[in-house]
Amino acid sequence: MIEKNNEKNNSKGGVIPEWAEKVVIRPAANIDLKELEWEGEFANFRKVYAEVFDRMQKGFSIMWVADLLSWGIIGQVFVQLVSKSAELADGHHRAYVHSYRVRPEYRHAGVGSRLMHTAEADLQKRGYSEVCLNVAKNNPLARRIYDHLGYQVISKNSGKWWYYDQYNELQYVNEPSWRMLKKINT
Ligand SMILES: CC(C)(COP(=O)(O)OP(=O)(O)OC[C@H]1O[C@@H](n2cnc3c(N)ncnc32)[C@H](O)[C@@H]1OP(=O)(O)O)[C@@H](O)C(=O)NCCC(=O)NCCS
Repeated sequence: MIEKNNEKNNSKGGVIPEWAEKVVIRPAANIDLKELEWEGEFANFRKVYAEVFDRMQKGFSIMWVADLLSWGIIGQVFVQLVSKSAELADGHHRAYVHSYRVRPEYRHAGVGSRLMHTAEADLQKRGYSEVCLNVAKNNPLARRIYDHLGYQVISKNSGKWWYYDQYNELQYVNEPSWRMLKKINT
């Protein structure tokens, strides 16, 4: 692991650890998929991630990863451009952000914000005007960063969804959420 103790101040007076300068935000490659499982903690999403990667090849999604050079992937955010549910993503104006996370030991150093800024800037270039997401009601820390990034609550969402895990078993998720929206290109 890269030495995390060398730090310097940023322009706002916050402390930026030196390793943060070695983080590159880029689209995921096939070879990254295993690393997104975090030594097994997120192995249950193996099929989900493979599907998102397949959708990226077709131009329907983008998987952004934060790559700490000479260490590996420390964060991610995925963007759905097209969805069966147009209220999430309609392929032209509105895109949906999901699967947003940074490894705990690398949080609070601006990596999460950089991931979101990169995703939003890319959407702006593509002509999108709105980004939406769901945040669990029991996740105030994530809600705070979304507030900070300029997202506003527009509705409630049941947060009920399902997926097939790595054993091809159906898993149900029940996570009452807020639907948040940010206007870009304004
Ligand atoms: C949400 C998440 C991705 C944010 O990642 P992160 O890398 O910690 O994000 P940042 O460092 O950009 O910002 C986090 C906070 O640190 C602050 N921060 C940013 N740079 C900083 C620095 N150099 N020094 C100290 N604090 C800093 C930010 O201001 C922000 O605080 P705020 O919310 O009060 O404004 C991360 O907390 C996470 O993975 N959480 C678990 C998964 C999750 O809940 N995902 C969201 C699902 S909806």
